[in-house]
Amino acid sequence: MPTTDTVPVIAIDGPVGTGKGTVSHRVASILGFSLLDSGALYRVLALAARTRGVSPDAGPALARLAESLDIEFAPGDAVQPVRVRLGGVDITDDIRTEQCGNDASRVSAHCEVRDALLARQHGFRRPPGLVADGRDMGSVVFPDACVKVFLVATARVRAERRHKQLMAKGIDVSVNRLYREMVERDRRDRERMVAPLKPAADAVVVDTTELDIDTVVARVLEIARTKMVAAYFRE
Ligand code: DC
Repeated sequence: MPTTDTVPVIAIDGPVGTGKGTVSHRVASILGFSLLDSGALYRVLALAARTRGVSPDAGPALARLAESLDIEFAPGDAVQPVRVRLGGVDITDDIRTEQCGNDASRVSAHCEVRDALLARQHGFRRPPGLVADGRDMGSVVFPDACVKVFLVATARVRAERRHKQLMAKGIDVSVNRLYREMVERDRRDRERMVAPLKPAADAVVVDTTELDIDTVVARVLEIARTKMVAAYFRE
């Protein structure tokens, strides 16, 4: 259900490895806006489901679990800007594994799960504004967002970026395997029946394949400035 809230939302969507997370965090801190990492919610649910033995195919059971989860987001450091707790236990690193990302992609394909997490996502919309990072922020969760950006990049470059990030954390995994898993995850996210990964009709698509993070942040801020000024004068 569309929200009628007047707090401005900047929706930043796109597949894994486009720099979405870093860009969203940087834009939110520059503007002093709150940040919603919606992928983290699906990851927490996937981790909780695995721990409690709930199948990633059991939509209704996953939705009940999603409603009961005691999730907290807290400020982190430069490496992990947001810490995530489940029932008071820090699970920030546990939800960042490739396994958890792939499980999250499976649990997020159920419409019951997406409905169960909707109100929680709307709860992040607080003054003075929100940067929402995900797959369906501009298309489904915040269809009235005044700024919608959809980041893309070639799968090869996205796999290489992810590989570099994992190597920096001391995790050694083959770039070809990452590439194959990424293509599979994108396919599942794009082809699912509910809230598929695709740009909202009014989103600005930015190809980050050949851009560094500073350039992408500058471009998103420029798009936000233009759209927010236009929205102000429309009112
Ligand atoms: O952004 P991420 O890698 O943390 O997301 C993990 C998975 O969660 C992703 O493959 C699909 C799902 N997801 C989603 O369906 N909708 C969102 N808004 C965010 C993530």
